[in-house]
Amino acid sequence: MRTTKVLCLALALLASMAVRRADEPHVARASITSTADLADGKVVYERKCEVCHFSTSSEKKIGPGLAGLMKRAKFKNGMVADDGHLRRVIERGGKDMPGFRDSLSEKQIRDLIAYVKTF
Ligand code: HEC
Repeated sequence: MRTTKVLCLALALLASMAVRRADEPHVARASITSTADLADGKVVYERKCEVCHFSTSSEKKIGPGLAGLMKRAKFKNGMVADDGHLRRVIERGGKDMPGFRDSLSEKQIRDLIAYVKTF
């Protein structure tokens, strides 16, 4: 039993590495996130998002607080809280939020999504 579990974990890890190397956006989105990705996502968040959003509160700063964002059923803007919608907001922005499609790489967006999901 235990061996099977360890083997599964090892395989999952290998698979995630393979996916990352392929760097194909729609496949990579499903990849397992490593600690390194979260650390990178944190850096992106601090540089690009923190100025307008609290990560540890749902209070409004300039935009709504993001604490617990992905544990809610919906965002404040009414979108279902899932990865696809989070990506859409990050890429396209909103009424008073700039879009980041042109200023963040695919990997940065992926790391950022993984990091925001920890709030
Ligand atoms: C200039 C300020 C500003 C920056 C920078 C900014 N946002 Fe926003 N964000 C907003 C505002 C304002 C809203 C409210 C909706 C609107 O006006 O578009 C918002 C809405 C959101 C929402 C929807 C939340 C909800 O509950 O409806 C998410 C998620 C979000 N932002 C994530 C991010 C992330 C991640 C970044 C960093 C890449 C970021 N924002 C950068 C201002 C900003």
